[in-house]
Amino acid sequence: SAPVKIAVLGCGTVGTQVVRLLLEQASDLAARVGAPVELSGIYVRDTTTPRDAAVPVDALTSDAQALVDSSDVVVEVMGGIEPARTLILRALERGSAVVTANKALLAQGGAELYEAADAAGADLYYEAAVAGAIPIVRPVRESLAGDRVTRILGVVNGTTNYVLDEMTTKGLDYDAVVAEAQRLGYAEADPTADVGGHDAAAKAAILASLAFHQRVGIDDVYCEGITAVTADDIAAATETGRVIKLLAVAEQTDAGVSVRVHPTLVPRDHPLAGVRGAFNAVFVEAEAAGELMFYGQGAGGVPTASAVLGDIVSVARHKAGGGKGPRESNYARLEVLPMSAA
Ligand code: NDP
Ligand code: HSE
Repeated sequence: SAPVKIAVLGCGTVGTQVVRLLLEQASDLAARVGAPVELSGIYVRDTTTPRDAAVPVDALTSDAQALVDSSDVVVEVMGGIEPARTLILRALERGSAVVTANKALLAQGGAELYEAADAAGADLYYEAAVAGAIPIVRPVRESLAGDRVTRILGVVNGTTNYVLDEMTTKGLDYDAVVAEAQRLGYAEADPTADVGGHDAAAKAAILASLAFHQRVGIDDVYCEGITAVTADDIAAATETGRVIKLLAVAEQTDAGVSVRVHPTLVPRDHPLAGVRGAFNAVFVEAEAAGELMFYGQGAGGVPTASAVLGDIVSVARHKAGGGKGPRESNYARLEVLPMSAA
């Protein structure tokens, strides 16, 4: 089969790991996709910046349009609104599939992107945009599409959970812990998006849109971050057997959909109190399914790249199958192992 050409826009914390895994796992990916998967180029701001050894320097380019126009799948891991928005629209309009981790863009201009994807019959996948490695977008968008979701509640920002956790368990200083979250690749390029609650609000808006089948944008979300939480607040919470968590809540009420992000006192024996470091946890309540819990690494280059690669496999499979949806189940190609007689 003809190779599926993959463009990667951005080569920072997430993009570097996406490129590394794409190249290292090329033969496994080809088997899962049903066609070779080829890196067509990597768009960055500065092609002379020293990169991780896994990044092929000759693949770097500052000509985004030419790269987009010569690729079947465009993976946007740059962040920010522009030029990400224009490049994604360009890709979708020419029928290319798009995979993005950009929750800020989806929560602000998602409708425009979904419409462009629908008009062109192109795939738009964004599992990495919510809660890093945790599969939560597909379950809400697809697995629960026949149910009625009533509430989503959880910790969806790794940076703020890491900061609150380090302050609570180690008594560390706020500024020092935020700097460490940046160094570890958990924080956004501008960490005020994390500590101000806007990153969690964007994720809550995306989940609410999918769960309640309505357009929920970031401006519809009540948002309060952790900047006003003091060491004294944390000590007071500890003394009363509770921990402070930045929670995102999206619920269907009699008055309509309500979505909010704010610090919350959580009793120490509640499952959310045990979410440590940059992990995330999301509870989904649905009428028929009941309560579901999703848990895992919510930030960081490698875990997030896992979600991006999963989307790449899905959309590349569609491309390799002539754009007609998933190809035959991989089950048909599985090796038959001898079963134990026990
Ligand atoms: P980084 O800041 O580490 O990397 C951004 C990359 O994009 C850099 O390679 C940069 O180029 C390139 N870039 C940025 N702006 C431009 C521009 N205007 N023109 C050309 N290239 C540009 O970001 P992350 O990897 O952390 O995040 C990328 C995306 O993934 C964001 O949308 C973020 O919200 C999302 N995300 C991040 C997670 C994380 O844990 N870090 C988790 C889940 C989602 P150069 O290298 O030349 O500067
Ligand atoms: N800055 C984000 C966080 C990255 O800390 O959760 C993952 O979306």
